[in-house]
Amino acid sequence: MSAPLYDWKAFASPDAVAQAHADAVADRLGEAIAARGRAVLAVSGGTTPMRFFRALSTAAIGWEKVVVTLIDERFVPPTHDRSNEKLARENLLTGPAASARFVPLYSQAESVEAAARQASEAVSSLLPIDVAVLGIGTDGHTASLFPDAANADFLLSTRAREPVLAVHAPSAGEPRLTLALPVISQSRHVFLHIEGDEKRGVFESAMAEEPPRVPIRAVLDAAVGEIAVYWAPKERT
Ligand code: 6PG
Repeated sequence: MSAPLYDWKAFASPDAVAQAHADAVADRLGEAIAARGRAVLAVSGGTTPMRFFRALSTAAIGWEKVVVTLIDERFVPPTHDRSNEKLARENLLTGPAASARFVPLYSQAESVEAAARQASEAVSSLLPIDVAVLGIGTDGHTASLFPDAANADFLLSTRAREPVLAVHAPSAGEPRLTLALPVISQSRHVFLHIEGDEKRGVFESAMAEEPPRVPIRAVLDAAVGEIAVYWAPKERT
């Protein structure tokens, strides 16, 4: 299978890529609001998005018509430092963006599987996603689709029927909640935010390789909308 078509945009610094990425995402959200009266944004967590979140939070769009959810979540409460909900609330849902509605993936359920069922109910009314913002790990994972998950074959397929899945993977740290591959790939716009040369190498080899596909390749192969990759070198320390 030939690699999916994507638009590669390189910038000189993390600040520059964050602002350009935020401007492009804001434009897509504004178009969604104009077309359908609502925009659904799903964002990844981790360490890369911080500047992007802060830049996007100031965008002059109709945030009261935007629904924000997560691409994935660690199975920890929103007070926990590893919580993607905490990261989004503190860095994205501030200023103008505080007017957006937030739909979390985490809930205080008796298991991550029960939380995934509850999140599936909450997320299903948001689909299809207008803008999905992905990150990438050095193992090629995206969202919480980890290559070392016991059910990785299922996770990287389009067979999932529930929009939110529970994931157990040794490299994931805690149990995870993730949007299923079909949900991500059916987003109208997919943005991938990459920083550093190592991750650029991981992405380029994923695009060059034949199966077995790493997760980011599986997701982008199935993508129905535009794919834009925003890259910058890591912060010079
Ligand atoms: C998460 C993310 C995950 C992330 C990659 C990269 O919950 O960690 O959603 O998919 O995008 O792990 O994370 P960094 O930006 O921290 O390198």
